[in-house]
Amino acid sequence: MTADQEKKQAALEAVKYIKNNMVVGLGTGSTAKHMIEAVGQMVAEGMNLTCVPSSDATEKLAKELGIKIVELHEVDHIDVTIDGADEFDGDFQLIKGGGGALLREKILAWNTKFNIIIADSSKDVKKLGAFKLPVEVIPFATKQIKTYLEAEGLKPVQRMKEGNEYRTDENNNILDIDIFEVEDLQELEIKLLKIPGVVETGLFLDSTSLIIVGKEGGPEVKE
Ligand code: A5P
Repeated sequence: MTADQEKKQAALEAVKYIKNNMVVGLGTGSTAKHMIEAVGQMVAEGMNLTCVPSSDATEKLAKELGIKIVELHEVDHIDVTIDGADEFDGDFQLIKGGGGALLREKILAWNTKFNIIIADSSKDVKKLGAFKLPVEVIPFATKQIKTYLEAEGLKPVQRMKEGNEYRTDENNNILDIDIFEVEDLQELEIKLLKIPGVVETGLFLDSTSLIIVGKEGGPEVKE
């Protein structure tokens, strides 16, 4: 099976958790895209769903598929959010934000009763950190935060796009940092969020209810 086939298989399994009249959070990325297409199909077949997107790209795709989109403040809760991840470990801790949408993704996860992560098998790791951790920062402070993180040994690299500094949907920068040697992720999260100008990190700790991994022979559902 290719990675993309695994992603699609996980996505098709995950949408089975969506029931009529639910409020659904829509993740971002190449795995989430399969899920959004499946949700579009469910809506086309008559299911009534209200969806909150985690990025401009997801919103655009969902609208093209005829999915009813609202803003977060228009709902009082989200029943289920389905999103991808860049890495997850055996304790359901995640690195997200490879696609830059970590801020809204994390807000959706926080406001959701049941968070499902969908992934291909390459995302399943023993220890987080081979993938660099995205940290979203306000451009006013990017240089100073980068200098601080360098001194902390976290090897920050400012994300670029086509020769220019990368900007998120909220018009912020991303610093990708190396956390492979870090043992205490909770402590790291607190330390990063204390820095003025850090908006959010791509560490998703203790927010995931279920992980579905695409696999040869059928999806693996981890609870
Ligand atoms: C978007 O910012 C990310 O958090 C994605 O959910 C994550 O990077 C997984 O993306 P893929 O499904 O494209 O691997």
